[in-house]
Amino acid sequence: MKTVMDFVVKENVRHGNQYALLRLSPVRGTMPEVAPGQFVQIDVPNSRATFLRRPISINYADQRELWLLIRRSGVGTNALCDIPQGTTLSVVLPLGHGFSLDVKGNVLLVGGGVGIAPLLMLGKRLVMRGIDVKFLLGARTSTEVLQLDLFRQTGETRVATEDGSLGHHGLVTTHPLLEQAEIDHIACCGPLPMMKAVAAIARQRGINCEVSLENRMACGMGACLCCVEDTTDSGNVCACTEGPVFNINRLKWT
Ligand SMILES: Cc1cc2nc3c(=O)[nH]c(=O)nc-3n(C[C@H](O)[C@H](O)[C@H](O)COP(=O)(O)OP(=O)(O)OC[C@H]3O[C@@H](n4cnc5c(N)ncnc54)[C@H](O)[C@@H]3O)c2cc1C
Ligand code: FES
Repeated sequence: MKTVMDFVVKENVRHGNQYALLRLSPVRGTMPEVAPGQFVQIDVPNSRATFLRRPISINYADQRELWLLIRRSGVGTNALCDIPQGTTLSVVLPLGHGFSLDVKGNVLLVGGGVGIAPLLMLGKRLVMRGIDVKFLLGARTSTEVLQLDLFRQTGETRVATEDGSLGHHGLVTTHPLLEQAEIDHIACCGPLPMMKAVAAIARQRGINCEVSLENRMACGMGACLCCVEDTTDSGNVCACTEGPVFNINRLKWT
């Protein structure tokens, strides 16, 4: 059940200039149950310019901690990346529908940029269920491949960088794994063009595929209708409540 909770920033770990990992712990009580692919709406403290809470994926959560991986994209995410240790943050969670956990066979988790965020917890949960998980992570350059050690600890991990500084040289969508490996299910999160390219490959190869959409969101709970996505089976639906994770068969992507 979704709830509004206060969290304290235990640690703000910077990844270069562009990214920060916020390790939060509840001020009172314990974390509610969360599923991989769900997100939070976080208040940016002391900022009139960011009246609306910002949607951020759950990177990792256990009973004591919540991790959010944040990329600087504008006023709100800049402020969150610079937030000092000890600050109290108001967070609404857990929101939306996450990735399927009842998957079978060879599972590939494909992430691009900060879109890798929800895949860490997803991978960990799938491994706990005895599923063979591989990760394919894409970034512009090696220093932007986030949490590589944590992914490697969880499962076999391949990397693609646009400048060739680590792993396959090129976009993650040109990695041979996507075209050649035996894959039964793909879970994907990243920039929209990347997810559309992965979806096209999955369709062509007949692979089941889920993607996590980052439509613009305001309320995050189905009230403002600013996040609608046109679907094949139900017309316009709120990505914040029906998603953010959708099976590609529901999306009108060409
Ligand atoms: C379900 C979901 C999960 C997300 N997970 C993460 C995450 O784990 N890490 C992360 O760094 N980012 C994540 N994002 C994107 C993040 O919410 C936006 O980058 C952030 O809201 C931008 O706020 P801002 O004040 O920094 O930017 P602004 O100054 O408001 O705008 C800068 C840019 O961000 C875009 N933007 C603004 N508001 C939103 C919004 N509410 N939703 C989407 N895009 C927006 C604008 O189109 C603009 O291009 C997620 C978005 C969604 C919808
Ligand atoms: S963000 Fe308000 S309805 Fe989805």
